[in-house]
Amino acid sequence: MTTTLDIARVRELFDLRGSFLVQTGGGYTGDPYPAWHRLREQAPVHRGTVHELTGITEPLVFHGLPYPDRPHFSAFGYEVCSSAYRDPATFASAPGAVDAAGAIGTDSSMLAMGGAQHRRYRGLVQPSFVPAKAQWWIRNWIEETVHALIGEFAGRGRAELNVDFCAAIPVLTITGSFGVPVARALDIRAALRHTGAVVEILAPIVAARRAQPADDLISVLVQAEYTDDDGVTHRLSDTEIYSFSILLLTAGSGTTWKQMGITLTTLLQRPEVLRAVRDDRRLLRPAVEEALRWAPTDPMFSRFVIADTEFHGTHLPAGSVLHLCIGAANRDPDRWDHPDDYDITRPLKPSLAFGSGPHTCLGMHVARAEMLTGIGALLDRLPELRLDPDAEAPRLIGMYERGATAIPVRFG
Ligand code: HEM
Repeated sequence: MTTTLDIARVRELFDLRGSFLVQTGGGYTGDPYPAWHRLREQAPVHRGTVHELTGITEPLVFHGLPYPDRPHFSAFGYEVCSSAYRDPATFASAPGAVDAAGAIGTDSSMLAMGGAQHRRYRGLVQPSFVPAKAQWWIRNWIEETVHALIGEFAGRGRAELNVDFCAAIPVLTITGSFGVPVARALDIRAALRHTGAVVEILAPIVAARRAQPADDLISVLVQAEYTDDDGVTHRLSDTEIYSFSILLLTAGSGTTWKQMGITLTTLLQRPEVLRAVRDDRRLLRPAVEEALRWAPTDPMFSRFVIADTEFHGTHLPAGSVLHLCIGAANRDPDRWDHPDDYDITRPLKPSLAFGSGPHTCLGMHVARAEMLTGIGALLDRLPELRLDPDAEAPRLIGMYERGATAIPVRFG
């Protein structure tokens, strides 16, 4: 099989330094962790946003930003971030109530819902995302995608893994699970900026699966049922299915791409660790988990303060925004010894890379399956895999969406 993916177009859509991600701080090339250590040592909660406190003066856009009319606070320690995550009654994931039947997009998706409404929607799709379903994703979409992509460059002796491999896997996995053919997968990624265009691609598939379900995610969604407070059973409307599909694409493709790139960069820059993982594949999972802790691709998520609250010594007024710097929390020395070391032998403790509390990443087992299958297949098929000594070495850049610049490798 060939993926028939237009690699030049993939490069344009997934340029970390290009216009797509510039508003989230794609131009930031520094190492934010020393500043985050200092901030964590100074106080559990600071006034200001994470990027301002890190020294970036230009306005950035991400979850919880910019909201110029609200007071902003940021938290940097593990305990303080997880306590906010565990208190959704005070710290909501969206600024207001959500009308799921309303507009299509992430603002009306599960990520923005709270309480019983969130539990009901999440409960509908959760069964497709549990660990036991990882094999369903691997067998149906991930394995074939991974091997087809490696097949395109395996004979050349060199490749650029960040875009040509890491970026392509999650898009093809998620669009595959929607029943979108490979040739249209990039149209859907490009169309994310115009929801109408996504709907145009998905509408015929939703209609077809309503008539005749298949073994894919859209079929799960069209058949899912929930019972409302009055005991009436509903199925998801087309609008709700489109919103959920867009949420999966936005939440699941950029994140997994960048996290896989971070993991590969980190391993390739440490040949002795890469060799250990190659020789004993049981180390691949700890290598992936440690990269999630050490360098989570999205190091900040925000919560909206519902009621005046005293929080770890700071008064947070209702209406303010609390930014949880999970990147800093993941290197809290109170939880991990030598937190700045990438150490795949350290005892495994859950980090906040996938969040925590009711909105914990729905797709984390899919993301893990993609990274484990992808990196495992590279190690299987390219025994000589190493960084290209003649090319510019990869660097981790970005503020709110961190990732690798480019990962030029050789294996011939
Ligand atoms: C390594 C890759 C990924 C990372 C680091 C990541 C991280 C996160 C984080 C931190 C959250 C919580 C956000 C918050 O606290 O406001 C989240 C939520 C979510 N993620 Fe992921 N994610 C990844 C991959 C995926 C994938 C592959 C999918 C889907 C296939 C996905 C779907 C979702 C959804 C639907 C939510 C919202 C859950 C809810 O509101 O209940 N994510 N993700």
